[in-house]
Amino acid sequence: MNAERIEVRAGSPGEAGSAVWIGRGLLESAASLLFSPSGRFLLISAPAARAAADVLRGALAGRLILDLTIDDREEAKTLDGVARIADAALAAGLRRDDALVAVGGGVTTDVAGFAAAVLLRGVAWNAVPSTTAAMADAAVGGKTGVNHPLGKNLLGAFHPPRAILVDPAALATLPERDYRSGLVEGFKAAWIADAPLAERAERALSLLLAREEEALLDLVAGAVRVKAGIVSSDPKEEGRRRLLNFGHTLGHAFEAAGGYRDLRHGEAVAWGIAAALEISRDRAGLSNEEAARVREVLARLGPFPQPRRDPALLAPYLARDKKATASGRAGILLEAIGRARVEEAIPEEAWLAAAARGQI
Ligand SMILES: NC(=O)c1ccc[n+]([C@@H]2O[C@H](COP(=O)([O-])OP(=O)(O)OC[C@H]3O[C@@H](n4cnc5c(N)ncnc54)[C@H](O)[C@@H]3O)[C@@H](O)[C@H]2O)c1
Ligand SMILES: [Zn+2]
Repeated sequence: MNAERIEVRAGSPGEAGSAVWIGRGLLESAASLLFSPSGRFLLISAPAARAAADVLRGALAGRLILDLTIDDREEAKTLDGVARIADAALAAGLRRDDALVAVGGGVTTDVAGFAAAVLLRGVAWNAVPSTTAAMADAAVGGKTGVNHPLGKNLLGAFHPPRAILVDPAALATLPERDYRSGLVEGFKAAWIADAPLAERAERALSLLLAREEEALLDLVAGAVRVKAGIVSSDPKEEGRRRLLNFGHTLGHAFEAAGGYRDLRHGEAVAWGIAAALEISRDRAGLSNEEAARVREVLARLGPFPQPRRDPALLAPYLARDKKATASGRAGILLEAIGRARVEEAIPEEAWLAAAARGQI
């Protein structure tokens, strides 16, 4: 095992942070890397992440008090989904010193993490992401939660996993569309805060698309380092952490406008980034040349299905954005590759115009 360890301080003051382990062959060593005060685990896995879950079943043999497979469709990312995990965990005799292990994509880690946050007022949990999106983003940083009929991720808690295992073996069965769209989140982290990483990943794009593990681990580890740095300085998203929402204001609107079916999360974010590039050129001095470089990467990760851009459709979703205030919506603008800033009040017209213009 040749692993890198990155620390994330993402909870309340005094609360333990997360250790992110990144490397090949980590799943086999899960027993020594995953955290549980009692030594007992409850495995919560997505059906499609079976290969990774099977390795963990072997590695944690004799220590599992529950082995639950959940419905991990975005439509099932609800309080009901949390209740199902709670029912099974309590029936299995969960104690406060036991720990959950979530194996799957961002839906699974968000739901299982939220269940861990509320079960017995909080038990420890671990994440084993099995999508590129969850490795580069969703499993890291402590945000957990579920959707509400009125909007995405409206119910949740900050409850960081104690250990996160990023092993490329967990991606073996991931479909091409999920693999590629998840990389958008990895590039997002590079674009907002790490120009050398963006350049390296750009040069390695063909290798990344061919699933070459070295290139993938470099991008994922870089993205985790960016997120760890930002989140550790602002765990509750009162300032700098908002930079991670680059592409997400319109991204979430595109995703919602497609009924959460037409576009993958990463695809919606790609379109949201394309629109944010337009606003960034107008208001943050982003050069045409750098905007074109970002668009070229997105084009090679795609082609992505076109989003619905009608202003009348998007406006209500923008209005419900968690980052909305009376004067407009805060937006994340790129000044240059590797440097982003928050602009507090971008008027709705500017968002809707950019949504109509952004091309990949
Ligand atoms: N908490 C956070 O900070 C955060 C950040 C970003 C995104 N998210 C959330 O994460 C979710 C998106 O994450 P995602 O893209 O990982 O989505 P996902 O969990 O829906 O996974 C994508 C698809 O891949 C399948 N899958 C997962 N692992 C697989 C494997 N190894 N082989 C084959 N198929 C596999 C899933 O069943 C699903 O169909 C959204 O709900 C989003 O809100 C959370
Ligand atoms: Zn995202």
